This record gives sequence, C-alpha cells and structure tokens, in this order.
Amino acid sequence: MKNLLRAFKRCAAAGAVILAAVSLQPAGASAASASTPPVVGGTRAAQGEFPFMVRLSMGCGGSLYAQDIVLTAAHCVSGSGNNTGITATAGVVDLRSSSAIKVKSTKVLQAPGYNGKGKDWALIKLARPISLPTLGIATTNTYNKGTFDIAGWGAATEGGGQQRYLLKAKVPFVDDATCQRAYGNELVPAEELCAGFVEEGGTDTCQGDSGGPMFRKDDAGAWIQVGIVSWGTGCARPDYPGVYTEVSTFAADIKKAAATL
Ligand code: ARG
Repeated sequence: MKNLLRAFKRCAAAGAVILAAVSLQPAGASAASASTPPVVGGTRAAQGEFPFMVRLSMGCGGSLYAQDIVLTAAHCVSGSGNNTGITATAGVVDLRSSSAIKVKSTKVLQAPGYNGKGKDWALIKLARPISLPTLGIATTNTYNKGTFDIAGWGAATEGGGQQRYLLKAKVPFVDDATCQRAYGNELVPAEELCAGFVEEGGTDTCQGDSGGPMFRKDDAGAWIQVGIVSWGTGCARPDYPGVYTEVSTFAADIKKAAATL
C-alpha cells in the first residue's frame, strides 16, 4: 500500500502513466482557471523552438537522443524488449497538426535495475529516423545548476487535462539538502536532481510531462539535457520541487544502452 501511494505520488509506476493517458482530452477541456497558465505556470512554446521534443502515445514526453532513439522515463514504459506499440509524435507544438511526424517504436530499453526508486530513464528505438535536431545529454555535473527549461504536453494544473499545444517554463535548480527537506529518503540524491520555486511554487512539470527533458544552454550556447521529468508531490506546490532523473549520472549507461539498440 505504501508502495502504491508512493507510486501515485511519485508517478513512478505504470499505473500513474495510465492515469495520465486516460485523462487525455481536448485542449481547453481541463478545469484550469484562466489565471493558471500552462506545463504548470508556463506559456506556449513556438513552433521549432524545442525541435527535439517528442510526445509518446502512452501519455509521456521524451527527447530525441538520436534521430531514431527517444530518451524518456523508465516509469513511462513497462519493461525492455521488442515493442511496436508506442507512437512518437515529433516536429510540431500542436499535436493535432497535419504536419506532425509520427513514427512507431520497435524496441524499448528500460534502465537496468529500475525498481521505482531512482534510475528513471529508458530508451525507445524508432522504426525510422526523424530528421530533426537531437538533444545532447550532460555527461558531467557541470550544468546541474542555474536555471533550467522544461516543456511538455502534460497537465497545466494539478489534476488537469493533457494539453494540445506544447508548453514551456523555466525553473531554478534546487540543491539536494533543500529537496530532501521535502522528500526525505524518497529522494535518491546521486540519481535525482530537483528544480522549482521552493518558496512560492507556481511553476512545475506535471502529470503527462514525465519522460520529457529538463534542459539548459551549455557554455557553447547549445541545448543540453540535464534531467528527465520523473516525479513530485502534486504539481507546483510550494515546498515540493519537481524531481528529475540526474542525466549526468547515467550518461555513460545511456550511451552504452543506445549502442545496443
Ligand atoms: N510522474 C509524472 C508523469 O508521469 C510527472 C510528475 C512530475 N511532477 C512534478 N511535480 N514535477 O507524468
């Protein structure tokens, strides 16, 4: 039971993903009030602004790690092996656009040893490459600080519906000690990175954003992925920052895994 509760709260189980998937509904059908703009507290991304963003058919986000490999969260998939049941949508901010690029999966690789705590990453091999820019991943902790960009088609309010248009926001880094004040031992500091406005809340990823990237500019001015949307208590609540897979911790594992796909 405790595990189930944690699964719901953390969103680190398949059940939570189904929750997100069944709540798919037309944009505007959510109970979001006009004063609460979308991710939570975000605004609409421009077409082409984040060309590496992917929407996955089970109701998660992802990023183009390679033109034929999507990086997402382990809790968005149910295991590893051949899998032709996932559709990746890319190249559009509007999921209903006729120019959306839709490609099916062929294989899924869930992080080895994933058990619902930490290690929340997975790779999805696509049936064909998509000709769009990929998103490089952080290989050291150099960029695990500062202000991060988040984006997704998930709920724009806690408990709200999925979005038709890609939403974006910026959230500041939160250090492990501060994040542990919220989550105690549920946080795996070596494997997870927190971000959000701890005092005021108001801006965060939310259900359905899982698997999507948290990213920033590197010193050369290129986008670099530092996190994967993983879990949090509610969305955008004061004192409860969003928790993201610490990509730099797993960079070597991800690279090795991608080479096998
Ligand atoms: N686990 C959620 C999902 O499957 C993402 C939750 C993110 N929550 C947060 N407060 N940042 O979509």
